Amino acid sequence: MWQAKFLAEDPLYLECNISQCQKKVGNLCIERTCNASITFRLVNIRTNITFVLFTGGFDTPCILKTLDPIRFNSPAAPLYGHLSCNDSTGTTMKLTWVSGDSRKNSAVITFNKSDLCVNNSGPAASFGWHDPGFIHSALLTGLLPSSTYTYKYGSDLVGWSIYTNFATPPAPARSATVRFIAYGDMGKAERDGSIEDYIQPGSLQVIDAVTAEVLAGNVDAVFHIGDISYATGFIAEWEFFLEMIHPDASEVPYLTAIGNHERDFPDSGSFYTTRDSGGECGVPYETHFQMPIQGKDMPWCSIELGPVHFTIMSTEHNWTLGSDQYIFSSNGTVGDSFKIVK
Ligand SMILES: [Fe+2]
Repeated sequence: MWQAKFLAEDPLYLECNISQCQKKVGNLCIERTCNASITFRLVNIRTNITFVLFTGGFDTPCILKTLDPIRFNSPAAPLYGHLSCNDSTGTTMKLTWVSGDSRKNSAVITFNKSDLCVNNSGPAASFGWHDPGFIHSALLTGLLPSSTYTYKYGSDLVGWSIYTNFATPPAPARSATVRFIAYGDMGKAERDGSIEDYIQPGSLQVIDAVTAEVLAGNVDAVFHIGDISYATGFIAEWEFFLEMIHPDASEVPYLTAIGNHERDFPDSGSFYTTRDSGGECGVPYETHFQMPIQGKDMPWCSIELGPVHFTIMSTEHNWTLGSDQYIFSSNGTVGDSFKIVK
């Protein structure tokens, strides 16, 4: 995993405005060095970070200097808490977060390389791999619909999050009102302007606009309907994404559907056989975003918020006649108005 910036972002370096003479012949300086300053905003991914200065661009990089690795102050800290609904009652929600704490004082899962696509030929299981840490989840029960609660998560061993408020969605009722935002293909980008494998600069404007609505109390739920982080095999980028959506997803349910960039890969069981997931095959997605789905690698479900019945299907899994999704769509769980016809 890498993040990069060009020294061109410091114009003083290009013009050699902060310079020092290293070698003089008479009054003439024949060897001069220039200083540059580049700032990175780092997201805690628990593992040490190494800074490398290189020249030659990305096509022919030549390393000039590698610094000693730096360590995060609290690499095991609980981070990136986000909410989803576990059912349609408005009284139960699921909180999920990441930490370096493997102890089972909450439901804890993780994944390793062998859990990804079986043929392991994408970046996810090789140069894109990053230890995902431990993904905790807690079921919050006995809540009242359309109500606000305060919570924190973590443990005495690795620390606690700050207190955060969240709102439960409305209970299912024809007379109720639900306010939701739905979008897909958002992806992520770094707020410090860093380049990564695959960034979507517009994502920052989208999430800032959503945050403004959530903080104003105008949103009961957010639906991100596929193509979530565009990590596409660079596992650490899931945590960059979780950090980016945290202001919203920690306060209202952040409900998701799977997309090609989370699931598709040849010979892996996806309906389409492109390499769009980079070898993830839906495993990081399903681990971080725990929806009330039908089972492992069966990411379809049905949920009601207020007067609206939401059906979440996967275009990336078989949906044809006789498939599991077809059967799901035929047994009434998706509501009266929806049925796969072809
Ligand atoms: Fe997309």
